[in-house]
Amino acid sequence: MNKKIFSGVQPTGNLHLGNYLGAIKNFVQLQSDKKNQCIYCVVDLHSITVKQDPRTLKQNTRETTAAFLASGLDPEKSIIFNQSAVSSHAEGAWILGCVSRMGWLSRMTQFKEKAGKDKEKASVGLYVYPVLMAADILLYDATHVPVGEDQKQHLELCRDIAQKFNNDFNSRNFLKVPEPLIQKEFARIMSLKNGLNKMSKSDPSDFSRINLTDDKDLIINKIKKAKTDTLPMPGKKDNLEKRPEVLNLLGIYSSLSNQNLDEVKSNFEGKNFSSFKENLSELLIDKILPIGKKIKDLLKDEKHLDNILKKGAEKADNLATKKINEMKKLVGF
Ligand code: TYM
Repeated sequence: MNKKIFSGVQPTGNLHLGNYLGAIKNFVQLQSDKKNQCIYCVVDLHSITVKQDPRTLKQNTRETTAAFLASGLDPEKSIIFNQSAVSSHAEGAWILGCVSRMGWLSRMTQFKEKAGKDKEKASVGLYVYPVLMAADILLYDATHVPVGEDQKQHLELCRDIAQKFNNDFNSRNFLKVPEPLIQKEFARIMSLKNGLNKMSKSDPSDFSRINLTDDKDLIINKIKKAKTDTLPMPGKKDNLEKRPEVLNLLGIYSSLSNQNLDEVKSNFEGKNFSSFKENLSELLIDKILPIGKKIKDLLKDEKHLDNILKKGAEKADNLATKKINEMKKLVGF
């Protein structure tokens, strides 16, 4: 089956190893199959659900675009654009917002986490954020959506919204119900400081994550300081349920080296943590440092990046306009 792939990444700075291993690495793999049509979006509309400095936002949009390219996305093969350049996303979100139910959105755990204790002060945008995400996906008839595990609930909601729209407007199969593509293992990379929290751009401690633009010394330092425990390196048969930090580091090694967890455990059985950490740092330096260097190089030519986004937006707009026009007709506009 030919797949239509859509995914998005927020331009909030500090793209990290979680974004790379949970999502972007997969984007690149999907692009390599010529039968797939891939659309990758820098979701700047999503990012303003929390306060952004306008100048920084523009730069972060470029930086996320640069990270896409540096990781191997190719604008000749995939459509790469920023969300605000295609107005159908906002229009689609409004229509779908009128189909979505408050109860559905109230169950979203990411809103609860992001809004924190004082929900009254969270933006309305943050609350309806998953509806915009549904519009992103449904406008392009995406069949598959590669994301990290933290986006699973939003994708389930997207499926519900598509089905409700089709029912409400008597338009069977008009909105295509997409499938999530979530890695089977290590689809949630955890913080280096606490194996129970996900690695996140919003964690105040920079030592909780490896950023794609970290330099060699910083990578070595962060891995050296990464939390482990006092037990020896686990063997192949050891269960790591109660050792989340160790499991996370082994998982990072496994994802980056494309070896399964058992192989990684066997390789390091009986060795000490410091030698494992040295190996992990070397692997990160080998895989991540070149991406960071490329991001920095690409950022020197803003015009080139802006041009890629502009061309991508033209292609995306062509597709999205057709769909939103049909959608409006169904609604009665
Ligand atoms: P965002 O910008 O928070 O994250 C981008 C992608 O990175 C994944 N990710 C992780 N994966 C594994 N471990 C982690 N610690 C980790 N942290 C982040 C996310 O799952 C995501 O795939 N709402 C989305 C963006 C979005 C979108 C869309 C995605 C907007 N519209 C349509 C798919 C389709 C978000 O905020 O991702």
